[in-house]
Amino acid sequence: MATADKEVETTGLTGWIDRRFPLTSTWKKHVSEYYAPKNFNFWYFFGSLALLVLVNQIVTGIFLTMNYKPDATLAFASVEYIMREVPWGWLIRYMHSTGASMFFVVVYLHMFRGLMYGSYRKPRELVWIFGCAIFLCLMAEAFFGYLLPWGQMSFWGAQVIVNLFSAIPFIGPDLSLWIRGDYVVSDVTLNRFFAFHVIAIPLVLIGLVVAHLVALHEVGSNNPDGVEIKAKKDANGIPLDGIPFHPYYSVHDFMGVCVFLLIFAAIIFFAPEMGGYFLEANNFVPANPLQTPPEIAPVWYFTAFYAMLRATTDPFKIVLMIVIALLGVLALVKARGKWKLGLPVLAAVVLVFMALTESKFWGVVVMGTAVVSLFFLPWLDRSPVKSIRYRPLFHKVFYAIFVFAFLMLGFLGTRPPSPAATLIAQICALIYFAFFLGMPFWTPRGKFKTPPERVHYKPH
Ligand code: HEM
Repeated sequence: MATADKEVETTGLTGWIDRRFPLTSTWKKHVSEYYAPKNFNFWYFFGSLALLVLVNQIVTGIFLTMNYKPDATLAFASVEYIMREVPWGWLIRYMHSTGASMFFVVVYLHMFRGLMYGSYRKPRELVWIFGCAIFLCLMAEAFFGYLLPWGQMSFWGAQVIVNLFSAIPFIGPDLSLWIRGDYVVSDVTLNRFFAFHVIAIPLVLIGLVVAHLVALHEVGSNNPDGVEIKAKKDANGIPLDGIPFHPYYSVHDFMGVCVFLLIFAAIIFFAPEMGGYFLEANNFVPANPLQTPPEIAPVWYFTAFYAMLRATTDPFKIVLMIVIALLGVLALVKARGKWKLGLPVLAAVVLVFMALTESKFWGVVVMGTAVVSLFFLPWLDRSPVKSIRYRPLFHKVFYAIFVFAFLMLGFLGTRPPSPAATLIAQICALIYFAFFLGMPFWTPRGKFKTPPERVHYKPH
């Protein structure tokens, strides 16, 4: 109590609140006395921008819900009503639809920053894991939301994705029926997707974002040098390479926000459909369960994973089986302790299971594993330094190939399938997984530069 009293020196209204609620101390702990490394660069804008887009989605979502009707006979028309009749409705709707795509742009760049600077490494494993859970939630949120306008793509996209679950052996058909609540995507499905989109997932998302930030503030931010600033403090316990988040980074981030808002506004006012990438032409046609559109493709932010799904053909399943068999043999030769027998047995069980099940199911597994692999990054990367700046050249080349393969998959997922495209997608999918699976082997190798004791910082 004595220390708490000592800390509370505020008077007036703030003092009154502080004696009842930790307002000033929370502000100090998380904002004005949160010491962040002074060498943050461009890549550090995206955390605060993700927060901004989250708020945008929630606020515009609330206003959309005031006029949207979650009913299969009314949904499409209610969106048209918002666009044409509700004052400023078009703006709110475009802010929400553009916000969805920009959320993924920002989050992909935010994740890439984490990958480059090793921000997932000890002691930030939980920051990363909460981040990966956020990414999963974001995907679910976007998927549920996409059904709501009840256009052709909404309907057929949901139909295709829910049908994927039916490929799961034994429980699949019942599971997809349970998800839809009907034999086809219908009004029942629309109602439950609405409930998930407007309340269930946003609640989880907000909870995870809070956990993400609490975990980050517990351990402190990483930086482009990968130097732990808490290791060197002055006599008052303040990190020598740290500056208070407010006002330094609040002003810095405000500039990022202004630039972002310029781009955001330009898209909303001049290209809200973004050539069909943000809003697809087919979704301006009301859902018709009797007419399948010629091309069913998800929105751009899912296409990399969708391309992996499509790439998992019967021959590719055999390639995967060969890879798993080789890994089993490798484990038998190299692994120690209980893994020596455990891993080969696991590989054998998976191989038998693969032989008995259809490739469509393995497409779903490949797609799911592509996302789940991210969770394990903190334990797969065994390099002695965090930041890419101090890694050998071949590490940088591997990162570049990985990013190229991911972007290529994203591109291929937007194109109609062809034998050549499938082959390229298969190669890119193998690169994607080789990057993660190989990490324990290639990350400790090579000639590393010694990271500096203190961060690099040039005032500008
Ligand atoms: C709604 C989505 C998200 C929000 C609002 C959010 C917010 C933030 C904020 C405000 C920061 C601190 C500022 C910064 O370092 O840029 C941060 C840091 C971080 N985030 Fe996120 N984040 C989100 C999603 C993700 C995802 C999907 C991942 C990874 C899978 C992730 C991984 C990280 C990591 C590793 C850090 C620490 C970076 C460092 O210290 O170098 N975040 N996040």
